Amino acid sequence: MKKIVIKGGKTLSGEITVGGAKNSVVALIPAAILTDEEVTVLNVPRISDTENLKRIIKLLGGEIEFGTGMLKINGENVKSVPIPEEFSDKLRASYYFMGALLARFKHVEMCFPGGCKIGARPIDLHIKAFEQLGAEVKKEGSKYTLDAKDLHGANIYLDFPSVGATVNTMLAASLAKGITTIENAAKEPEIINVASLLNNMGAKVSGAGTDTIKIIGVEHLHGATIETIPDRIVAGTYIMIGALAGDNLKISNVIPTHTGTLLSKIRDMGVDLKIEDDSVIVSKAQKLKPVDIKTLVYPGFVTDLGQPMCTLLTQADGECIFEETIYENRTGHYPELIKMGANIEYTNKKAHIYGPTKLKGTTVCASDLRAGAALIIAGLIAEGTTVIENIEHILRGYEDIVEKLKAIGADIELIDE
Ligand code: UD1
Repeated sequence: MKKIVIKGGKTLSGEITVGGAKNSVVALIPAAILTDEEVTVLNVPRISDTENLKRIIKLLGGEIEFGTGMLKINGENVKSVPIPEEFSDKLRASYYFMGALLARFKHVEMCFPGGCKIGARPIDLHIKAFEQLGAEVKKEGSKYTLDAKDLHGANIYLDFPSVGATVNTMLAASLAKGITTIENAAKEPEIINVASLLNNMGAKVSGAGTDTIKIIGVEHLHGATIETIPDRIVAGTYIMIGALAGDNLKISNVIPTHTGTLLSKIRDMGVDLKIEDDSVIVSKAQKLKPVDIKTLVYPGFVTDLGQPMCTLLTQADGECIFEETIYENRTGHYPELIKMGANIEYTNKKAHIYGPTKLKGTTVCASDLRAGAALIIAGLIAEGTTVIENIEHILRGYEDIVEKLKAIGADIELIDE
């Protein structure tokens, strides 16, 4: 069993470089099999989600070659092989194979995707969009079977601007006959990244990054190259670490506008930030002012940084109210932070966090990916030793996190017992 052990209280300085975005690369890899030609994805993070997608590509008959930060995917021999649960449940984003295989083969068999257990995470909006594009969808237990004679363009209104449903619709509509419009589309930067790959492959996608996306279906897509954008969630996590323990800590390979809401909240808390073109320099604030946070869809405060943010809020001088509006049960970090000494009253949706509280090292458990990030931040500032168990979740989304933190002065080890 892997564990992370942290001896807290070190000052962190130097430079930490952010890798490619998990939530982009997990869509770029399945998108690559829309063509039988080679697709090259650059700035690929070494995380277990990428490994699990590589396994699915191989299962489907695709060839995949991994260089330094680079992935070449050749979909020439890909077939629409059924994707069983032991492949699909390793990560949420396995659902992107539904859109990609449906577009190319008009037939998909796969089980319900996995991902963090943070409340019900239905895929009804994806399914509804596939049906509007002409697919027939059957569900037996956790297995979905999708068939279409032909896919045709449609006007699709998403009841909620879901990232997954927006990307999946773009994938399926790229090879459909006619024009598809997605209204109330998600606007996250990762969606623009996926649309750029599709357009590089010969698709006709416009409006990505706004709430209306138009896709003019084409008959054929070809090989292309795309660079994965930097991970804004990882960047935000390191910026928070800098606000609590940094001494001129430079976080590089950041697109500051992608973390705009976080930077503004951190500034409101009294943290001194130096924002450059592609980096942020941050130092520990002497005193943190309390702020209230409500998670929202992009460009609002991103839910994936909500849990790490709660650790930062435990150090603010006063009461902070934190509200989660996207997921119904993103609360796994609270009991563990409380175990470490935080003063938090919470329900599924809202937490009152009273600070500043001294955190003390103990053994805690990462219930999900971002709860794990919250506990790493807590461990870095806690007195004594923190042991984080169940860290497989963290390795799904944070590339080389232990080595990167060590290099800036943290006393942190990954132990594999
Ligand atoms: C993506 C991100 C995840 C992030 C989330 C919100 C990926 C792989 N994951 O997840 O890190 O937390 O966006 O920014 O990119 N919903 C439905 N029906 C659907 C789809 C979604 O009800 O068919 C609901 C979900 O239950 C949830 C909300 O919509 O309450 C957000 O879902 P969505 O934006 O789709 O998130 P994911 O794609 O799962």
